Amino acid sequence: GQSRFNVENRVGGDAPLTALGCEYARRLAVAVHDRFGDGDELDVWTSTLRRTIQTAEPLGLPAGQWRALDEIDAGDCDGLTYDEIRAQRPDEWNARMADKLRYRYPRGESYEDVIQRVDRVIIELERYKTPVLVIAHRAILRALYGYFVQVPREDVPYAPFPLHTVVKLMPTAYGCVEEREKLGPDVGDER
Ligand code: G3H
Repeated sequence: GQSRFNVENRVGGDAPLTALGCEYARRLAVAVHDRFGDGDELDVWTSTLRRTIQTAEPLGLPAGQWRALDEIDAGDCDGLTYDEIRAQRPDEWNARMADKLRYRYPRGESYEDVIQRVDRVIIELERYKTPVLVIAHRAILRALYGYFVQVPREDVPYAPFPLHTVVKLMPTAYGCVEEREKLGPDVGDER
């Protein structure tokens, strides 16, 4: 769900959902209950950050919180807007533009770090025979998606993960079949 920081174009933080983000959370709950009934068969995982916990709330299901699903750590840039990073830390900005996969925020993480960090989540997901709903953050979902859909590593930081969209991955003998469902509301965020 959209958070206040999404609207302000800020990285990191622990902002709450906006009204539109709350509306998405309600739509998600309806979609999940339509598909999974009372949800007995479904596991729900969030990060430890407010926006994912709030997104799960209307489901009314127990949700496991994973620190390993927390957003990429933006280190010293946490809380800055992208424009502020470009203006105040041009070297950092340029380094990230040049190599988004390997660029590590000062005192924070890189996408490569995140890919390593979600390893334990992937190991757990691989063990599941029943569906798991993962409510996390763009960088984290890119890393999980990259593994299951076999996205070339260099492309992982750019995999499209728009807000208010459910990405369904169904394992088959030949890899994952993917379906996307835009639940809205549309917030014009197609990254
Ligand atoms: O706040 C970070 C986003 O989730 C990922 O955005 O494309 O700047 O890595 P990014």
